[in-house]
Amino acid sequence: MDPQDQEDQDEDTPGPVSDQDASLGKVRNRNLYLATMACVLGPLSFGFVLGYSSPAIPELARISDPRLRLDADQASWFGSIVTLGAAAGGLLGGWLVEKLGRKITLMFCSLPFVFGFTIIIAAQNVWMLYVGRLLTGIASGVTSLVVPLYISEMAHERVRGMLGSCMQLMVVVGIMGVYLAGLYLDWRWLAILCAVPPTLLIVCMCFVPESPRFLLSRGRRREAEEALRFLRGPDAPVEWECARIESACDEQGSGFQMSDLKDPGVYKPLVIGVMLMLFQQMTGINAIMFYAENIFEQAHFKESDLASVIVALIQVVFTGVAALIMDRAGRKILLTISGVAMAISTMTFGVYFYLVSKPSGAGVEPHADLSWLALASMAVFIAGFAVGWGPIPWLIMSEIFPSKVRGVSSAACVLTNWSIAFLVTKTFQDMMGLLTSAGTFWLFASMCVLNVLFTVFFVPETKGKTLEQIEATFRGAPGP
Ligand code: BGC
Repeated sequence: MDPQDQEDQDEDTPGPVSDQDASLGKVRNRNLYLATMACVLGPLSFGFVLGYSSPAIPELARISDPRLRLDADQASWFGSIVTLGAAAGGLLGGWLVEKLGRKITLMFCSLPFVFGFTIIIAAQNVWMLYVGRLLTGIASGVTSLVVPLYISEMAHERVRGMLGSCMQLMVVVGIMGVYLAGLYLDWRWLAILCAVPPTLLIVCMCFVPESPRFLLSRGRRREAEEALRFLRGPDAPVEWECARIESACDEQGSGFQMSDLKDPGVYKPLVIGVMLMLFQQMTGINAIMFYAENIFEQAHFKESDLASVIVALIQVVFTGVAALIMDRAGRKILLTISGVAMAISTMTFGVYFYLVSKPSGAGVEPHADLSWLALASMAVFIAGFAVGWGPIPWLIMSEIFPSKVRGVSSAACVLTNWSIAFLVTKTFQDMMGLLTSAGTFWLFASMCVLNVLFTVFFVPETKGKTLEQIEATFRGAPGP
């Protein structure tokens, strides 16, 4: 074609970027926000599950009924069996999202949540408590897979970071809610309260459409257009958006095959997703949160259960900040800041433990005046995690996989996340014995340094791109 003709044509037909901008200009976000609010009742429920053991264990350890009383070993299983259930839930969820779709999978989660808490409420022995925790753990695992996926597939690129971060925000709101309620309610009433969000979830989800991307990947164009019309408002060019998603689906073909693992568009994001999950847990977040009460006790806080509420509050505030700035700041910069803050704070924590472990004069409490250092390190660590490594691995997991392998790749990520969470929390005390407290925290610090290097060199920036554009970047193509 003559270059002049080409130029004229470019002027007549707006390029893909201007199409994108024009389409986004007509979008109304109200229903998208409502749909997200319904979905995040799932993460709220799983925050309740994660937080439940903290107020329940001390009560169950001194309960008068000997059939329900937990010794130290049983208490540790009561806490950690949830992570095992969630790892299994990740595998189940990866299969369910492809077979049943995102909506039915999320609605299905309500059942093991409610059923699990019902078994805990009716428990006659410790095994019933374990079964209840395992079921709620499975539900948490499925939820942690389906919700980020569902939200990122419904959202558009201008608000996807903020809406995706709401998952983590609701997890930490759930944790804080259950800690707070635990100050007033006994473990049975607390379990009754925990069954409320999943019950609301199944009701509210009746009004939310299936993910348009899932519908298009199954060739259900008419339903996909209806779903998009609901999510984008009456004026948005939903046919255009459908066509754009469809063309990406056509290029990919359907269904995961082992040979796909040779495709850089599949294996690159898979390695990045799995490594992000591994690194998130290797920061020691769950062990440190678990240990928070002891740190506050050492720092002479009388009410250590209030300490957990303070830790949870810091998480809520900073996760909220992260959600608000996610689409402007971008994922990479927040991950880097977060990693640096956690590296410095765990390093300082190590120094604190090293100093307090050194013997001081007879009869003098060793370095009691250093408790401020422990508190400050804890606060910086929790805030640091909340602005980056808390929400972003889940968000990026939901953004980087091509749609045909989204279920199976997310399952690998969720399985990694919860299995490492189990290992770290279960071996934390032994590690402290083996490496000393200072050594353990320095190990976490070195992991945080690796997190930062990994972020800088390997994590792609996904801010402002459509899912199809992100996918194309991994294949080295410019993208639709
Ligand atoms: C992590 C969990 C953690 C939770 C609360 C999530 O992002 O995956 O392991 O317990 O945040 O901070």
